[in-house]
Amino acid sequence: MKQVLVILGVLAISASFIALLSIKRALHEPAEAEDYAHLPKSESPPALFASPDFSFRDHTGQTVTKASLGGQPYVANFIFTTCRTVCPLLTAKMVRLQRELPGLPVRFVSFSVDPEHDTIEALAAYAKQWNPDEVRWSLMETTPPGLADLAKGFHVTADRTDGGLDAVMHSAVFVLVDQYGVVRGVFNSEESDDFKALMRDVRTLVGSKAPEPRPTRSGEVLFHELSCANCHERPELAPPLGGLLGQRRELETRLLVIADEAYLKESIVAPVAKRVAGYPLMMPSYAGHLSMDELDALVKYVVALPPPAAPSPGVEVAIDPVCHMKVRVTPNALRVQPDGGEPHYFCSEWCRARFSENPDAYRH
Ligand code: HEC
Repeated sequence: MKQVLVILGVLAISASFIALLSIKRALHEPAEAEDYAHLPKSESPPALFASPDFSFRDHTGQTVTKASLGGQPYVANFIFTTCRTVCPLLTAKMVRLQRELPGLPVRFVSFSVDPEHDTIEALAAYAKQWNPDEVRWSLMETTPPGLADLAKGFHVTADRTDGGLDAVMHSAVFVLVDQYGVVRGVFNSEESDDFKALMRDVRTLVGSKAPEPRPTRSGEVLFHELSCANCHERPELAPPLGGLLGQRRELETRLLVIADEAYLKESIVAPVAKRVAGYPLMMPSYAGHLSMDELDALVKYVVALPPPAAPSPGVEVAIDPVCHMKVRVTPNALRVQPDGGEPHYFCSEWCRARFSENPDAYRH
């Protein structure tokens, strides 16, 4: 029987990047974890398969093994810290999960799929950037053979690609493992229903009741809880949000729109309707996670954010010739340097690819 394996990757195709949900057919392979992603989740999630053995150090330097995690359920995912396409999205969801399940006896484990670069220090910096107060979260340093065994055992993929924006293609799933080390669910992080089912199944495993309806959160609390700043304060990942109201935005479809309040709301709950041009990463949808009042409060907070500060003296800034955004000239800034000419700097791989295809179109 043919098995279907869904891999989320991002490919550079000539001038533009497209998020690609590629479907690979694998003959005669054991059941892939993703096959289970669409099974209906019942009251008590079914036992799927035994999780693999592993022993790695986490971002605090402690050794974490299958045995040491025993006794508590955990939610695992697979990321790498320099990834600029799907991982910030996965990590934003991981952090949302942690914040939606406060105080519950459940662990969160993010395995690095880039053993070469993700040192303990890099993982510690990543944890600090995203959710420094979360003691239940372990970001795991891996080794090439250890990672291969892990991927096999969890039935996920973690393959090197030859080029493109990100060097590793890997499964964008969350895996729920129970206190006995048995996998009880594999959830497609892209599906908001799966995200809700994952939260429900974690609660079932730890015997916790559904939460009481919570009080309306303020715009500031939401902005923090939903990790908005983690992407939007890094211009290489997402557009700065301060001073946005009334500005003209170029969409992926090349249409120009004015960022009014309705546009801001739509960007938060239905981002797919109007994607901003030039970002390989996609804005996650917050539909179903905010009440109407909360959405109003969040937009009010975003509108009041100060425009991005002028860069401090000493930090060189260049203008991306394609989208005209300001780009900080740092050693790892994206650039194209014609032979003997001045370098051009880019906000994203998308702009760089457009420029490389036809540099003359962007000369002033
Ligand atoms: C995982 C990273 C990530 C997170 C977390 C995130 N965003 Fe975004 N956001 C993006 C990216 C990338 C874009 C531009 C591409 C697109 O439109 O999909 C964007 C676009 C937007 C836009 C349109 C901006 C413009 O310049 O026109 C708004 C408004 C916005 N986000 C608000 C928010 C708010 C509010 C939150 C928190 C609730 C948030 N975002 C969380 C990545 C993120």
